[in-house]
Amino acid sequence: MFFFIGLVASLIVGWILFPKALYSQKQQPIDFNHTLHSGLVSNGCESCHFFREDGTYSGVPKLAQCIECHEEAQGSNPEEIKFVEQYVKKKIEVPWLVYARQPDCVFFSHAAHVKTANMNCATCHGPIGESEHMKPYQQNRITGYSRDIWGENIGGVKNTWDRMKMDDCSECHQKEKVSPGSVQTQKEGCFVCHK
Ligand code: HEC
Ligand code: HEC
Ligand code: HEC
Ligand code: HEC
Ligand code: HEC
Repeated sequence: MFFFIGLVASLIVGWILFPKALYSQKQQPIDFNHTLHSGLVSNGCESCHFFREDGTYSGVPKLAQCIECHEEAQGSNPEEIKFVEQYVKKKIEVPWLVYARQPDCVFFSHAAHVKTANMNCATCHGPIGESEHMKPYQQNRITGYSRDIWGENIGGVKNTWDRMKMDDCSECHQKEKVSPGSVQTQKEGCFVCHK
């Protein structure tokens, strides 16, 4: 009986309380609606997220990509008014929080995955492109990294976009034979992903 209570208690701590205590939550500075905007722009996702001439990825859009439509607020949505008053009119870039942000020592290239390997955004990011609200950004209090690197779900069920830890990158790389041998046995293999 005590064993059982102890087991239940540790499950509660392990699955519910510990993850809550481990991550601090931050809201995005502006609640951006992807679904609404995808129907308004002329070139789909690439209107805001595109490859530059040199093959690097533009990543998160700058004010310049919003200004043609948001010089002045178009409606009465408080998020739009906040965006126009606090950022557009003051010419301050929005400090967006990047869920997928990797540590500085990691090298990642969108061109290799999106252009060469023809992968969908959702394979790694999940359905963010179809969302109406930005989810909270969860930061690991110990490492300072985003939860999207360290794992959404320690209960066992996992989507590719729940975690983007080293093992998850290399699991796919081994399957796709991106670099020969396994991460554990091939020291040279480290420099595929590390600077
Ligand atoms: C093609 C025109 C267009 C572009 C480009 C555009 N928007 Fe919008 N945006 C709109 C329209 C239209 C609305 C709806 C206004 C209303 O009636 O509330 C809107 C609404 C919004 C809102 C409030 C509604 C919501 O739920 O998001 C925010 C915040 C916003 N835009 C931010 C941005 C940001 C940030 C960018 C650049 C990354 C951007 N927009 C680029 C046209 C545009
Ligand atoms: C009008 C501009 C606009 C368009 C069009 C747009 N996005 Fe975004 N997107 C944004 C902004 C602003 C953010 C910043 C929020 C953030 O840091 O996550 C963002 C963030 C993202 C992210 C999150 C990256 C991260 O880890 O934080 C993904 C994934 C993404 N967009 C995918 C898409 C896809 C897929 C489409 C097409 C279906 C699309 N976006 C169309 C403006 C746009
Ligand atoms: C193979 C996995 C993968 C795929 C496929 C992928 N991404 Fe990413 N994305 C990442 C990772 C990892 C990062 C973080 C990179 C870093 O921190 O250096 C990222 C970062 C981003 C960012 C933020 C970049 C920044 O530096 O500001 C945006 C926006 C984004 N991705 C959008 C997209 C869109 C849109 C697509 C589809 C066209 C896409 N991604 C496809 C893994 C992927
Ligand atoms: C779902 C599969 C998948 C995932 C997840 C993935 N990759 Fe890849 N990656 C590939 C494939 C396939 C290629 C080879 C593309 C090509 O043919 O050049 C590649 C290529 C690369 C390259 C270029 C290698 C070279 O020699 O040109 C780098 C760097 C890289 N990946 C880093 C990462 C990192 C870092 C992560 C995790 C954050 C990651 N990848 C996650 C499939 C994946
Ligand atoms: C397929 C891509 C890939 C390969 C190959 C790879 N790594 Fe990583 N590594 C990552 C990613 C992504 C992270 C950040 C996420 C994490 O910590 O799991 C990381 C994190 C690390 C960290 C922790 C850094 C920190 O700031 O927390 C160390 C140390 C490391 N890798 C060493 C290695 C060594 C040694 C090898 C070769 C045996 C190697 N890695 C091969 C992708 C890779």
